[in-house]
Amino acid sequence: MSYIRSQAFEETGYVVLDRYDQESDPKEWLDLEYVDWKSSGDTRFAPLASAFGEMECNGFWNHTPPRTDKDGVWVEANVSKAPHLKARAEEPGANIGRCRVIELQPNDYAEALYNLHQDDNNRLNPDGTGWIVRGFFNLSDDKDSCIILREDRFDPETEVRIALPAGAQLIVDTQRFWHAVWQKGPEPRYCLITSWESGPALDAYIEKYHGDPHAASLPLDPAFVEEAQAQVRRRLAERAAILAAKGKADHGPVDPEA
Ligand SMILES: [Fe+2]
Repeated sequence: MSYIRSQAFEETGYVVLDRYDQESDPKEWLDLEYVDWKSSGDTRFAPLASAFGEMECNGFWNHTPPRTDKDGVWVEANVSKAPHLKARAEEPGANIGRCRVIELQPNDYAEALYNLHQDDNNRLNPDGTGWIVRGFFNLSDDKDSCIILREDRFDPETEVRIALPAGAQLIVDTQRFWHAVWQKGPEPRYCLITSWESGPALDAYIEKYHGDPHAASLPLDPAFVEEAQAQVRRRLAERAAILAAKGKADHGPVDPEA
């Protein structure tokens, strides 16, 4: 047995869909209720679907009974204010797990590299069912910002940087990639993040919106990348030393949404 995966992700692990006309929709994300939830960076989340429809963001596997990231329950207080966002999450017709809007405060490139992590979307996901991937629909207009994807956490050669203008739509195998967002600001970034189950419905949706596994990566000066990389190595070494002094092992980053 093995998981059902989308053919579209086989080569690069992500696709960029046609740009959505975000300007035509109301800014529903500004009306939502946000809860403090530590993810990578300075963040808050507005849950649209959670494990039991409560206003909270915990991974479904941390509830009783624990379960995988599927069959999310709509959070009425928020979806009643965001019919467009709910409809966009539902459009593929794929099973939805966690669905939320993230608010991310501005950071810098080195901070984003420090925040790189892999998601844990498939914990408790039964073999033979669909692999969970995540949709990122950028709501605010952050055209100079980007999502950073790395196959190898410490290898900049594996890095892809996808720009995040309003209406940018990506689907990413976030358990495969180390990922984080570099939000240049000065305003926070807002993005609809949805966990979807891979399968024929999601495949058809990716095809309908011309999912591109080779979207252009934003250029960046290699010297700038190396300087940031060195900063991250220093920070991680400091962190490991502090933990060691306390007699604790450094297990590295875990899914900050867990
Ligand atoms: Fe993540």
